[in-house]
Amino acid sequence: MAYPFVHPDETRVLSKHFGEPEARTLAGWEARGGYQALRKAVEMGPAEIVSEVKDSGLRGRGGAGFPTGVKWSFMPQASGKPHYLLCNADESEPGTFKDRELIRWTPHQLIEGCLIGARAINVQHVYIYNRGEFFETTQILARAIEEAYEAGYIGKDILGSGVDIDITLHMGAGAYICGEETGLMNSLEGRRGEPRLKPPFPAAVGAFGRPTTINNVETLCAVPHIVTHGGEWYRQWGTEKSPGTKLFCVSGHVRKPGNYEVPLGFNFREFIYEMCGGPPEGRALKAVIPGGSSVPILRPEEIDIGMDYEAMAAAGTMLGCGSVIVMDETTDIVKQVRRMSDFYTHESCGQCTPCREGTAWASRILKRIEDGWGSEEDLDTLLELSENMAGKTICTFSDAAAAPIVSSVQKFRDDYLALIRRGENLAASA
Ligand SMILES: Cc1cc2nc3c(=O)[nH]c(=O)nc-3n(C[C@H](O)[C@H](O)[C@H](O)COP(=O)(O)O)c2cc1C
Repeated sequence: MAYPFVHPDETRVLSKHFGEPEARTLAGWEARGGYQALRKAVEMGPAEIVSEVKDSGLRGRGGAGFPTGVKWSFMPQASGKPHYLLCNADESEPGTFKDRELIRWTPHQLIEGCLIGARAINVQHVYIYNRGEFFETTQILARAIEEAYEAGYIGKDILGSGVDIDITLHMGAGAYICGEETGLMNSLEGRRGEPRLKPPFPAAVGAFGRPTTINNVETLCAVPHIVTHGGEWYRQWGTEKSPGTKLFCVSGHVRKPGNYEVPLGFNFREFIYEMCGGPPEGRALKAVIPGGSSVPILRPEEIDIGMDYEAMAAAGTMLGCGSVIVMDETTDIVKQVRRMSDFYTHESCGQCTPCREGTAWASRILKRIEDGWGSEEDLDTLLELSENMAGKTICTFSDAAAAPIVSSVQKFRDDYLALIRRGENLAASA
């Protein structure tokens, strides 16, 4: 079965076996070279693996883009007490659907990445935190973990190396905030999914009070390839500061939505118009969100940029987790932003006042504008409110909620004004 929408210009490293059901099984994975990287990793030892991953320049694919090898080097070595690796498979960012696909098609790729990651930071226990609603991937992953235990890849003395690593699959209850690393740790421990203040950082005090590293599914899936071929090999793609390939999830008004794996730095305009087929026939592009609903929106004239962390930042937005939401001219931007705002209002954990109150007020004001009862002053209030939401809370959820509001008011002010004027005219003629 061919994976839908495989484009010949993709660079499929992590997604190479998407569409091949046999790749899900242990035998199928081994036949594709699976677990050879783990064999190499147990011989290499922790320092060498960390150094190879540092050389590759791999950056975290969960959104922040923090260099993975550097993050791993923060973990204290050999304290004699338990340390943990948490794999973040929560994937709740609106517009994101890559991690579930990596698990769905290649669960052993993730397991191998987790085992190598654990070996790199001297951890004996890995928790994979899967989002509560992901029943299918939970079953696929549970089966794959079982197979890998039976084959001796997980458990005591893996591959006769003297290294012990266990993997526990944990299902969340389905909350966006549990994708935030400290909220995830609280949830894993059976507490409310409320983020923790940092410092202390997870590498010092993490899950169960022990040193912990948290990595995204896609990040860990890249690791076996880096161990097999070396850091330099990985750098053949991407840019100097954003090396490698990345999965981009494309949804909205494009003719060919789906997951695409391309080198970082790929031209964004070419990506949307050529690879994804552009907007439907006869319709013009209106806006693009490049990295999930939590990042600033771009206008069509702003998309001649590279799909990498630096180029996106220079354009005033973020690569985030690579979730591209495309909107054509038929889109009601105010309605879309209001819907996003409602999502954040619903998902705010409520710990911090700027987030709890700010998201709720923003939703109310946006709804008022959408319904034709808004005023121009409301736009100033939205911007002021957003300023009070950003950088003032325990985690960056609040910043994420403010980003689409600020960028849409700044870049699509006319859309807001049209609704405000229409409401005023209707009121005047009533
Ligand atoms: C509100 C919020 C939600 C997040 N959701 C996710 C998520 O679903 N999956 C994920 O991998 N990272 C998510 N993150 C980022 C994580 O906190 C963390 O940075 C990431 O898992 C680290 O892995 P990486 O270094 O491999 O990217 C979220 C962050 C925030 C602030």
